[in-house]
Amino acid sequence: MIGLFLSGTGNTKHCLELLLHILDDNAVSIPIENEQAAKLVSKHEIIFLAYPTQYSNIPYMVRDFIQRNSKIWAGKKVFCMTTMGLFSGDGTGCVARLLKKYGAKIIGGLQVKMPDSISDSKLLKHPKEKNLRTIKSADKKIIEAACQMKRGIFCQEGLGIFAHIAGLFGQRLWFYSKTKKYTKSLKISDACIGCGLCSDICPMNNIIIENGTAKAQEKCTMCYRCINSCPKQAITLLGRKIVKQYQFENYIS
Ligand SMILES: Cc1cc2nc3c(=O)[nH]c(=O)nc-3n(C[C@H](O)[C@H](O)[C@H](O)COP(=O)(O)O)c2cc1C
Ligand code: SF4
Ligand code: SF4
Repeated sequence: MIGLFLSGTGNTKHCLELLLHILDDNAVSIPIENEQAAKLVSKHEIIFLAYPTQYSNIPYMVRDFIQRNSKIWAGKKVFCMTTMGLFSGDGTGCVARLLKKYGAKIIGGLQVKMPDSISDSKLLKHPKEKNLRTIKSADKKIIEAACQMKRGIFCQEGLGIFAHIAGLFGQRLWFYSKTKKYTKSLKISDACIGCGLCSDICPMNNIIIENGTAKAQEKCTMCYRCINSCPKQAITLLGRKIVKQYQFENYIS
């Protein structure tokens, strides 16, 4: 088995790696931006595919990857996993339906609540203690799901018709255009000092450094990695200024 993931602030990476660690100590996981990703997926029979929910939908980069590599999915057994700040509806179901089109067999789905990654919006911001409790509950849920899987019972969260309706009417219908393609809306302010961090970490190579300052291109998948990492809080996307930056690894250490 192999794990494949997109993770902007580390939530999804953590959740997937915890699940895989319990299921099989030798299982490896790789980020979707790794150039060997498609090749590695094609070599394995069981794939754990994990990503953050965006507007009860799939980040465009994940959709793009699946479609560009449509031939590698036939006959694969795929477990879909999504992380979310509050509500996902059928976050796993969206990927499951797409993969089925390309011949994959969906073996289960898990939707895990984690701290919110949208650092330029006040909407889902919580005190650190509450976020740490959320992470603890997430870990507990994943451990329980993994123990069940070891007994051959795979949870099916987000895959049924009721979840589909909840995801569609709860969010996707109204926000569908947000995840329909890559966005050009990333904003970089004059506070940028040209350190290059954002450019180094972007999974889409969407930021270049030119004349000592960062410039956004037109292929942002809204993962929020750069926005949460910029030492000068110079990058925003949905909001106008940073409320609170978040990265899973720094948060729990
Ligand atoms: C653009 C964007 C849209 C999001 N939409 C949702 C959403 O619809 N529902 C939700 O519960 N969380 C939403 N979130 C929160 C993330 O899904 C959540 O924080 C996730 O755990 C981040 O995972 P990561 O650190 O692996 O990127 C959104 C985050 C971003 C950046
Ligand atoms: S991380 Fe921030 S300061 Fe550094 S280059 Fe990017 S935008 Fe500029
Ligand atoms: S530009 Fe920033 S938010 Fe957009 S894909 Fe790259 S790292 Fe993620």
